[in-house]
Amino acid sequence: MKITSITLLTFFAITTMHAQTKPYLDKTKPTEERITLLMKLMTLEEKVGQMNQYNGFWEVTGPAPKGGDAQTKYEHLRKGWVGSMLSVRGVKNVRAVQKIAVEESRLGIPLIIGFDVIHGYKTLSPIPLAEAASWDLDAIKKSAQVAADEASASGINWTFGPMMDVTREARWGRVMESSGEDPFLGSKIAIARIKGFQGDKMEDLLKVNTIAACAKHFAAYGFAEAGRDYNTVDISNSTLYNVVLPPFKAANDAGVRTFMNSFNILNGVPATGNSFLQRDILKGKWKFNGFIVTDWASIREMKNHGFAKDDADASAKAVTAGADMDMESHYYVAELVNLVKSGKVKEVLIDDAVRRILRVKFELGLFDDPYKYCDEAREKAEIGSKANNDAVLDMAKKSIVLLKNEANLLPLKKSGQKIALIGSLANDKTSPLGSWRIASDDETAISVLEGMQQYKDNTLTFEKGADLTIGKTTFIDELVFNTTDKSGFEAAKNAAKNADVVVMVLGEHGFQSGEARSRTNLDLPGVQQQLLEEIYKINPNIVLVLNNGRPLALPWASEHIPAIIEAWQLGTQTGNAVAQVLYGDYNPSGKLPMSFPRNVGQCPIYYNNYSTGRPVDVDKNVFWSHYSDVEKTPQFPFGFGLSYTTFEYKNLKINKSEFNKGEIVKVSVEVTNTGNYDGKEVVQLYIHDIVGSLARPVKELKGFELTNLKKGETKTITFTLTDKELGFFDNQGNYLVESGTFKIMVGGSSDKGLESQFELK
Ligand code: NOJ
Repeated sequence: MKITSITLLTFFAITTMHAQTKPYLDKTKPTEERITLLMKLMTLEEKVGQMNQYNGFWEVTGPAPKGGDAQTKYEHLRKGWVGSMLSVRGVKNVRAVQKIAVEESRLGIPLIIGFDVIHGYKTLSPIPLAEAASWDLDAIKKSAQVAADEASASGINWTFGPMMDVTREARWGRVMESSGEDPFLGSKIAIARIKGFQGDKMEDLLKVNTIAACAKHFAAYGFAEAGRDYNTVDISNSTLYNVVLPPFKAANDAGVRTFMNSFNILNGVPATGNSFLQRDILKGKWKFNGFIVTDWASIREMKNHGFAKDDADASAKAVTAGADMDMESHYYVAELVNLVKSGKVKEVLIDDAVRRILRVKFELGLFDDPYKYCDEAREKAEIGSKANNDAVLDMAKKSIVLLKNEANLLPLKKSGQKIALIGSLANDKTSPLGSWRIASDDETAISVLEGMQQYKDNTLTFEKGADLTIGKTTFIDELVFNTTDKSGFEAAKNAAKNADVVVMVLGEHGFQSGEARSRTNLDLPGVQQQLLEEIYKINPNIVLVLNNGRPLALPWASEHIPAIIEAWQLGTQTGNAVAQVLYGDYNPSGKLPMSFPRNVGQCPIYYNNYSTGRPVDVDKNVFWSHYSDVEKTPQFPFGFGLSYTTFEYKNLKINKSEFNKGEIVKVSVEVTNTGNYDGKEVVQLYIHDIVGSLARPVKELKGFELTNLKKGETKTITFTLTDKELGFFDNQGNYLVESGTFKIMVGGSSDKGLESQFELK
C-alpha cells in the first residue's frame, strides 16, 4: 500500500480516537498500566465475563443462532461476557467469533482461543508418553514448536498442554499424555514443551507462531486410585512435594502462562476449590502471575464431590480458592455478579482474576492485533507442511524403544528376505494417530504396511489375522473389541509358514488410552494374544511391534518372542518411523519413561520406590516383601531400552570423596560403543540418599545425557550435582539438604549401572 499523507492522517485520527475512548489500546504504555486503564472502564458483569470460557458451539460463520445454548453464548459474546472460547478452530471460525467479541461488544476485549493441542495439531507427533521415551529434549521442544506453528496458523493462541502429571499407574489411560513416572525427567520435558509452545522468552509470545501453554492438571490427577480416571486421590505429603509438584514448579519457573486445575480431590478438597494448591502454593509461594483455568465443568463437579451445595456455593468456593476462569460450568457467569453484590465474594478476587487473564491476552499481543492468528495464507502454507512432517518423523523414530532383540532378528536384512506382516494394526491408518487429535483426520497416518512397502527388495506379504475392534471407533464412545472372529487366522498362519521373519503389529487401539480410558487388564486386547501364540507355533522368528498408549504387561511375549519393539502410537509418520527402525536405517535409542509390569497386580510399580523393612529374603522363608506368584521387579524397568549396538560403562569417578553443602559434585563416566553400529545412548545418573530424617527412595534420577557414539568411540560424560539435586522436601514442604552418605549409580537403565558413593558433610 502506498502511504499517503491522507492514510497517515486517518491512522493518527483513529489512534487518537482510540487513545481517548480505549486508552488501553495505547501500545506505548506498560502492560500493567494498560490493564488498569481497561479495568477502570469495565463493569462488574464485563469483569466476570472475562472469567467465563465457553466451548465452541454453533456454525459460527452462519447466521446468529435463534435459540438454546448457542443463542445464549452468542449473546453473551456480544455483551462482552465471554473471555475465552475453546475448541473453535480454523481461521474462518476463529475470525468470526473474535469479530463478535472485538467489534460487537462494548469494550472489544479479544478472546483467548484455547484448544487441546496435545501431540500436534493436524500433523501429529507421537503421543506424549512416546516422546518422553526419546529423552531428547531438543526433539521434544521442536515437536511442540511444530504443534504451536500449526495451531497458531489455525487461529488458536492457547494450548491446554503440556500435561505434566507424574503417574505410576499403567491402568490410567491418561498416561499416554504424560511424561511417565519420574519427576526429574517430567520436569525437563515440561520445560522443553513450554519453550516449544511459547518460545524461549516472554516476548516470543508476541510472535504469530507461538501460543500460550498450560501446565495441567494442578494437582495430583495422575494418582487417581486404581488408575480409574477422575477417581479419588489420596497421597502423602512426601509424594505431593517430591513427586507431584516438581514439574509444575519447573513449569512456573520456565514462565508457563496458564495452569489448569484438576478433577480430583486432595485431602478431601477438590483441586478447583483448593486454596492450598492454587493460592498458597501456586500464586503465593511460587508467585505465578498468569491465570488458572478450571478443568471442564470442574466447578460444577464440586457438587458431585459433596463439597458445594449449589451453583453459587461452588462458584464462591472456586473463586475464593483461586480458580480464575470457568471452563464450561457456566457458573461464574451466572453467579459471580450476585455473589459480589451480596458481599459473599469480595470484588478484589474478581479483579485479581481478571487482571491475570488480561495480562496473558496483552502478552500475546491480542489487543494490538486481535486477528494476528487469522491469516488464511499462513494456514494453508503451514498446516501439514513438508517441514512439519519431517520433524514429526524425526520425533517418531526417536520415540521407539527396542525392548528385546535375540537371535539377531533385527535389523531386518534389506534384501532377499521373505517377510510376513501380520496384525490389523499394521494396516491401520487411524489408530497410530493415538488419542487427543481433535483437529486431525482419520486415515491420515502412514501405516506400518505402507512404511515397509518402501523397502522393495524383500518379499512382503500382509495378513491382518483378525480385526482388533468392531464398528466405529471414536474419541467419545466405548470401543468394542473383536473377541470371537478368528476367521483370518488361517491366512495369517500360511503367510507365516512361508516367511523368513514374521513382523506382528499388535497392541492397543489409539483410542484405548487418553481421558476416561482406564483398563484393569494390561494385555493385548481381543484375540491378539491367541493370534500371536498360534503364529509362534508356526514360525517363532517373530518381531513384535507394539502399539500402545500405556505400559502393557506381556509376560508370555516377553519370554517367547525374540524381538520386541515398543512403537507406541507414533502419529502421522508412524509407518515410516517403524520401517526405518526395522530395517536399521535408524538405530533405536529410546528408553522407557515408565516401568512395564509383569502383570497388572504389580501396579502401581515404579523405580523410585522406598525400601521396605524387609526388602530381601534374609531368613529364607516367606516373611519378606514379595509376591508368591511373580517376581517383584518389573518386566522392563524405567530407563530401559536397547540399541542395535552395545555400550560399555567404565571408570565411574567422583571428583572428591567428601563435600560440603553448597559444593558442586562432579561425576564422570566413560561410555564406549562396543558394537557394530553407530548409536545413541541415554546415560543416566541416579542417587540414593542412604539415611535421611525421612526415608528416601532407593533410587532417584538426577541427571541424564543423550550422547551420540560412533562405532568404537568412547566419550567421557560428566554430570554435576548440587544442593538442588541432593535435597528433598519434608512433609511441610520445606526443602532440606542433609549430611550423610550418597550412593551414585550411572548406567543405561534404572536397574543396573556402575556404583560409587560420597559423603556430604
Ligand atoms: C478435560 C481434560 O481433563 C483436559 O485435560 C482438557 O484440556 C479439557 N477437558 C478440555 O478439553
